[in-house]
Amino acid sequence: MSLRDQPASERSFATLVLLALAAAMALGLTFVATRELAPAPAAAVAGPPRHSRLLAVLDGVMAVNTNPAQVEVFRTWVEGGATREGWPPVESIVANNCSRCHDRGGQFPRLASYEDLRPIALEETPEGLMGLLRARPLHLFGFPAILLLSTLLYLRRTAWSGRKALMAATAAAVVFDLAQWLLRQGAPTALWAAWAAVGLLGLVMLAQVAVVLAELWRPRKG
Ligand code: HEC
Repeated sequence: MSLRDQPASERSFATLVLLALAAAMALGLTFVATRELAPAPAAAVAGPPRHSRLLAVLDGVMAVNTNPAQVEVFRTWVEGGATREGWPPVESIVANNCSRCHDRGGQFPRLASYEDLRPIALEETPEGLMGLLRARPLHLFGFPAILLLSTLLYLRRTAWSGRKALMAATAAAVVFDLAQWLLRQGAPTALWAAWAAVGLLGLVMLAQVAVVLAELWRPRKG
């Protein structure tokens, strides 16, 4: 049965589900934009973060890879504003303790250079809901799943003649996001690609919501 012919209660339910999917997408994109894309604050102006993400990770999931003396070296560097001058002692620890997993082509995020480490060192650890989100599952599963659901459940069942084109655009946006994320490996390079991905994902989601809501609620002609 086409979406339009359903009773009003079913169409209301479809509207709620679709808006929930759009809200999840908005939350994920906000996370990506603030966490991955916002340039690290200039240390001289902003000062070191209160809860550095790098130090939080070294206390947490990566604790096994350092000893307390090494953590102190990281801490001194972060509290000094993660400067290039303070980098050499950190660099040797990174080379010995981190690179075998986090070098180019390895584990996310890429931690091969000063430019890779500095943004993570200066980043505030997000709290609350944002603190629970992780970049990898969002890119690999979250965004694709949200768009797959809204496409299969709703867009595919509209009578709109452009739906195939929008389905193709949706697939392209997901593939582009995955590709740029994999190629950048969490490093702050080629940010234009990351912004383009956020923009494309947001656009196809908005377009889907607009098309499906119009299908559900536009009065019939004649
Ligand atoms: C044995 C391999 C290995 C080594 C060595 C290693 N890591 Fe990791 N690192 C990982 C894996 C696997 C993950 C992903 C874990 C996860 O997401 O829960 C990760 C995740 C991270 C993250 C992202 C975590 C987050 O939640 O944002 C950071 C930052 C990090 N490592 C820093 C480091 C630093 C700094 C070192 C060196 C002191 C290091 N790692 C050494 C395997 C390693």
